[in-house]
Amino acid sequence: MSRIYKYDDSERYIPIDLGELVTGAQIPFEIFTHDGTIYKSLLDKGSTYSYYAQRMIEDQALSKFYIRQGSALNFDEYMHNAAKLKKMLLEPDFFNSRYKAFRDKWFIVDKQVLDSGIPFTLPLGGLRFPLFGEIPFSVDSNDAYRNLLDLNSDIAVREQDVDSYYLYLDKILDAEGIEDPLLKLRCRREKLKVWCYRLLEEARNNSITQDTLFKLYKHINIVMNLIANDFGYAGKFLFFDVSDFFLYIHSTNVCLMSLMYGHASNMEEAELLNLGISAMLHDVGRVDIDDDAGENSYNEMEREIFKSHVIKGKELLDPQRDVPKAAKIVALTHHEREDGSGYMAGLTGDRISKFSKIVALADTFESSRVTDFKHTFKKRTQIIGEMVHQEHIFEPDMLKTFIGFIAKLTI
Ligand SMILES: [Fe+2]
Ligand SMILES: [Fe+2]
Repeated sequence: MSRIYKYDDSERYIPIDLGELVTGAQIPFEIFTHDGTIYKSLLDKGSTYSYYAQRMIEDQALSKFYIRQGSALNFDEYMHNAAKLKKMLLEPDFFNSRYKAFRDKWFIVDKQVLDSGIPFTLPLGGLRFPLFGEIPFSVDSNDAYRNLLDLNSDIAVREQDVDSYYLYLDKILDAEGIEDPLLKLRCRREKLKVWCYRLLEEARNNSITQDTLFKLYKHINIVMNLIANDFGYAGKFLFFDVSDFFLYIHSTNVCLMSLMYGHASNMEEAELLNLGISAMLHDVGRVDIDDDAGENSYNEMEREIFKSHVIKGKELLDPQRDVPKAAKIVALTHHEREDGSGYMAGLTGDRISKFSKIVALADTFESSRVTDFKHTFKKRTQIIGEMVHQEHIFEPDMLKTFIGFIAKLTI
């Protein structure tokens, strides 16, 4: 909650009624008051309109409240959803079902790639805790793009538009005038993510095709070369976006991190390819597991259901002839730990495959980055500290290699 005094006469302010706000929800706009002379900031954008905030305002006996004119779009959208928002805050089940419904119909994109200068005309959806739904504009101007960023939400395209999004990524990569290497890196990562999404869909339907596997190999290879050419720079791959809730984002990040580990430990190209595909598929057993179940769930039955994803993963991959054996082993054993404290078999040291140990390191790091699905991020140094603290569960030399390169990456 900030109390910075503002003297900005160039901006226009619009009066609002605080009584209309939803208690307990985040506000996607800054709120001001006016003391007869100047506008003062009362509540920051993104802060929660809590009971505490209400009391603080009452205590000051304030009566006039405003938002900046530039926030009108956010305010309108917020008001449009206010009734739904109240319902969600009162009924967590309603909220969860909305969240899952959104995930099933939309594909999260890296919104930074939408700012390529090439018009983007696909319908977009937004996912901002706790609001979901279609955003009513397309990105065909700089202003529209800025509005999009200002919405402070995850941006998604509809499931049926993923192919068109892929073509858009190709357009950026092929465009002659676009030199921005970071944008191109983002596009490469997005393409890998799309193939991961397709592969996991096929796995869910028990029909992994040779074609999709082949494409994934091809894109893993491209990414491998980018890593080999400029390791420090390609490290930025890891810091674009994170989510444990969207399996294709999680799996893509674990794949990228595993490839970097492979590169840092001088692995051969053919081995790297196999490692990449194994990392991509490590959590394939989670495609059918309900999200209420999680490793840290308070409910023991849910924890056990979550753990079963390693068995489900192996069962899903076993009949797939084109999937390498190494990937089937990783799907089954990536939660085994050096000291035998992992699951499902409690294997120790030498009985765990090298790929499973690499994926375990990458997976532990990646899963620690997001502490909840409201996008709370942990610092890299904090995660490294936690992993060093648990050194008995990883092979010491491998942990050293892993932390060594993660710490060196430029963000
Ligand atoms: Fe897992
Ligand atoms: Fe995982």
